[in-house]
Amino acid sequence: MLAAPSSAETGAAAWLRYAPVGETGSGRTLPRHVVLLGDSLVLRTAQQELVRGLDGMLGGAMSTATNQIKKNSIVLVTRPDLDKLPLSLHPAAALGPEGFWLTDAKLHGHDCLLIIGGTDRGVLYGVFALLRKIAEGANVKNLNEVQAPAAPFRWVNQWDNLNGTIERGYGGKSIFFEDGAVRADLTRAADYARLLASVGINGCSVNNVNADPRMLQSDFLPQLARFADAFRPWGVKLSISVDFSSPKAVGGLSTFDPLDPKVAEWWRRKVDEIYRLIPDFGGFVVKADSEGRSGPSSYGRSPADAANVLARALKPHGGVVFYRAFVYNHHLDWRNPKNDRAKAAYDIFHPLDGKFDDNVIVQIKYGPIDFQVREPVSPLLGGLEKTNEAVELQITQEYTGQQRHLCFLAPMWKEVLDFDLHAGRDGTPVKDLVAGKTFHRPIGGFVGVANVGSDPTWLGSILAMANIYAFGRVAWDPNLSAGAIAQEWTRLTFGNDRVVAPTIAAMQLASWHIYESYTGPLGAGTLTNILGSHYGPGIESSERNGWGQWHRADHEGIGMDRTIATGTGFIGQYWPAVQRLYETLAQCPDELLLFFHHVPYDYVLHAGKTVIQYIYDSHYDGAEEAQKLVEDWKSLKGRVDEERYATVLAQLEYQAGHAIVWRDAICQWFLRMSGIADVKGRAGHYPNRVEAESMELSGYVSFNVTPWETASAGKAIECPAPAKSCTASFHFDRPAGRYALDVEYFDQNNGESKFRVYIADRLIDEWIANDHLPTTKPDGDSSTRRRIQGVELRPGDEIRIEGIPDRDERAPVDYVEIFPAVR
Ligand code: GCU
Repeated sequence: MLAAPSSAETGAAAWLRYAPVGETGSGRTLPRHVVLLGDSLVLRTAQQELVRGLDGMLGGAMSTATNQIKKNSIVLVTRPDLDKLPLSLHPAAALGPEGFWLTDAKLHGHDCLLIIGGTDRGVLYGVFALLRKIAEGANVKNLNEVQAPAAPFRWVNQWDNLNGTIERGYGGKSIFFEDGAVRADLTRAADYARLLASVGINGCSVNNVNADPRMLQSDFLPQLARFADAFRPWGVKLSISVDFSSPKAVGGLSTFDPLDPKVAEWWRRKVDEIYRLIPDFGGFVVKADSEGRSGPSSYGRSPADAANVLARALKPHGGVVFYRAFVYNHHLDWRNPKNDRAKAAYDIFHPLDGKFDDNVIVQIKYGPIDFQVREPVSPLLGGLEKTNEAVELQITQEYTGQQRHLCFLAPMWKEVLDFDLHAGRDGTPVKDLVAGKTFHRPIGGFVGVANVGSDPTWLGSILAMANIYAFGRVAWDPNLSAGAIAQEWTRLTFGNDRVVAPTIAAMQLASWHIYESYTGPLGAGTLTNILGSHYGPGIESSERNGWGQWHRADHEGIGMDRTIATGTGFIGQYWPAVQRLYETLAQCPDELLLFFHHVPYDYVLHAGKTVIQYIYDSHYDGAEEAQKLVEDWKSLKGRVDEERYATVLAQLEYQAGHAIVWRDAICQWFLRMSGIADVKGRAGHYPNRVEAESMELSGYVSFNVTPWETASAGKAIECPAPAKSCTASFHFDRPAGRYALDVEYFDQNNGESKFRVYIADRLIDEWIANDHLPTTKPDGDSSTRRRIQGVELRPGDEIRIEGIPDRDERAPVDYVEIFPAVR
């Protein structure tokens, strides 16, 4: 018998659904009474949350009390308050300020489950941990468990703009800003803080790192205070990104030179002003001298000079500066083979080691380029011994499918965090370096670029929410496995059905590798359109420009030579043990080969095949695995509520179609470039495909798609203005039977064309191209598959597509592909 699926859900509750656990649920044995000993805003939140969660899961009837224990209870108390009681209880490990201890004890003769926090925030985290256990059906009897976070700073960055848009946000408009001001209703901002707190995140920077100077205007600051009010009950500190030129841009000074005393004084006064309004303000995030942002280089000053002037203003209040190491020249000369963007962060920041004040944290992207699907770990993470550091991970899937493609990032993050940089000795993984353990730094931690929006599902995708969850969990405990995190998230989000939990967890765990396989494997970089959307394929966009995301693919070979011996020397930025891993072809792992080496297409990998064949195989395999995700999901029909089932299915179907766009673009391009055929005969051969430009056209005209590889054979058809409708038709010439028909069309965001498909004058399908893909053109971003299942066809049948254009979207079609049904 199937387990009853939970009722229809939008995904808004994310992993905090508190769905009923049923009669045998593990929490059934718990006392139905919650006592709070002590008082604070966060403690009251903790008590309310516990009641809310237990009410939901165990079915109502929870009672509460404060400062008195008269029956069996769940007791919330901080360590200092516990010590006032006539009890002698000692945890097995230190709690630290944010840790918690779950244990049983007799208090005033009553059986109690104690949630003891190092501070009130620890109590809150302990409450969420207990609720998680109950939701997962884990044991909650005879608990004696101590947990403390790996590092003190576990922040998210939001890249929200004051006009309500979000830089690299794929989940709708900002929940923080609209029309140049803070939103009147901050309910969702408070809900977001609750989600963050539930996985131990303790800070949130609310605005784009490409910061608007208005953030620091005196008349804007009171609005910011409203964020802090929304976050405070959840122990989440507010911080903001600042424009380094603010002393000039909003302060009216003639300079923003960090060593000018007037500038230092301006920052000091500005920070004092902020703290008068927001006494628990967290601090600043800074992006300077990067991608056109102003910075200290205007005055010949260093990032340390810049960070320290801010740090000194924040210090008396306990605030910190996260200074981003994402500093590079985006006008690099691509003709010079020694130039290498990957070297920038280390070249700039390593010489400054020891020059940063102790309330500065250098925030370092996990890889030396920019959130690619696979990069080696940034050598800078191992290159700062006397400087606090944080690793910057990206939750929003900028280069990994923008939440339309399933790409669970915990496996990647785990590889990064577990990677041993051999910083002076063995056993110095990134997780220890950023936690300050390796070099005994006082502070440090984890930053996740989240970019949730006002979509009900927060990120625009139900399954993508696993990435926020996972970020919080690895930041709390980087020793958790990706598998354990996937299981937890799935159970909390979809329940404990014995089929659902392992199926979804397995899909999540496979998804990063699948995405990598059909985009940019072997460390080539994502191969996306880097000049525009960062979404669909756009191989040549990386080359012949100053952005430095070069893969150097030409007729002979592919890859960046970053060796010490003959290349850019980037590998020399690592400690010797890591240099040895990457410097030689013999050692370098396949998965990063093209990041470090330029090789001919017929170079044979450790995997035993040539680079070019690997490119073909991995794209075909990846696209097939994407289709398999659809089948996996379909196996859950009836076990997941209908609403989420349908939403996720549609997204996975879309992904499987777009994986084919990727597959074909990359394979076509490399086939033409290398001139080497796919030994399996697939690349460039599509026996089931009828190209639109070869159909009988009425009104439709053929045109060249750019970049050419993003359309089958480089061409498609469109219905030019002023035509109101056009048709393309062909005759079916295969044996009679049941077939599936894929129509590949382009869904731009500047019109909503209609499509109708007829077989011998019988309408078999119609749809509107009204998705919101990131392009106004027919290209690899907009190319979309419509799959029509179970079509009866006989030889000679006319198959006709009618396209009805809308505004600038001219109902473009690429091809039709016909398969025997049930694929
Ligand atoms: C990427 C991203 C930008 C962002 C930048 C950053 O380059 O595309 O939108 O501003 O990273 O991290 O600062």
